[in-house]
Amino acid sequence: MAPCSKPYKEAIARWHFSYQRTIKNKGKIKTASHPYMDRVLIITTSKNIIWRLSMQHTLNTLSENIRAQSIELLNKQLASAIDLHAQVKQAHWNVRGPGFIGAHELFDKVAEVVEDTSDKIAERIGGLGGTAQGTLAVAAKHSFLVPYNLGIADVSQHIFAVASSLAAFSQALRQSITQTSGCGDDVTADLLTQTAREVEQQLWFVESHLKPTHVGQQSEQKSEQAA
Ligand SMILES: [Fe+2]
Repeated sequence: MAPCSKPYKEAIARWHFSYQRTIKNKGKIKTASHPYMDRVLIITTSKNIIWRLSMQHTLNTLSENIRAQSIELLNKQLASAIDLHAQVKQAHWNVRGPGFIGAHELFDKVAEVVEDTSDKIAERIGGLGGTAQGTLAVAAKHSFLVPYNLGIADVSQHIFAVASSLAAFSQALRQSITQTSGCGDDVTADLLTQTAREVEQQLWFVESHLKPTHVGQQSEQKSEQAA
């Protein structure tokens, strides 16, 4: 990709201006060539124009088809990782009662790990020639996690809620590992495996704060329901 020099910026600005004039108010989807990108997908509506950068050129020899599939999966994980980070921070800020300081500090450490996870996923998307869709607005729209309860609660309630979100996130990571590996993108699968290992370690740290009897009771309830 060309450096973002002044001529580059001017070329992009000219290109956007000319296309906005050309396609405004036509309500169509178009792909168009672009001075510095492989392709650009342009979606127009009757009143405004939304444009989205598609795959960018890379010397990575994985096929565009494989990279596109990995990018789509990674963006789903990214949205949920950003949501998960905010959820754990929510617990960090709103936990109260006996054991407060331990839980408060634990949630902060977990949030750090999850934030690092978002960064790795987003940078892999970039490396594959994709666009990391990592704004809070997009994350809120596409996260697969159950929304976190906003109330103040005691340590065990927040521990259980955070553990549940970590478990759901790691489950989705494991599914994505299988899918990316099956598509031939072993490097992304390896990144997701490493991420899942870190997330599941945090899950262990968090759920170990629950009383063993509590965990045991749940297991018994599950086996009773299954019987
Ligand atoms: Fe803090």
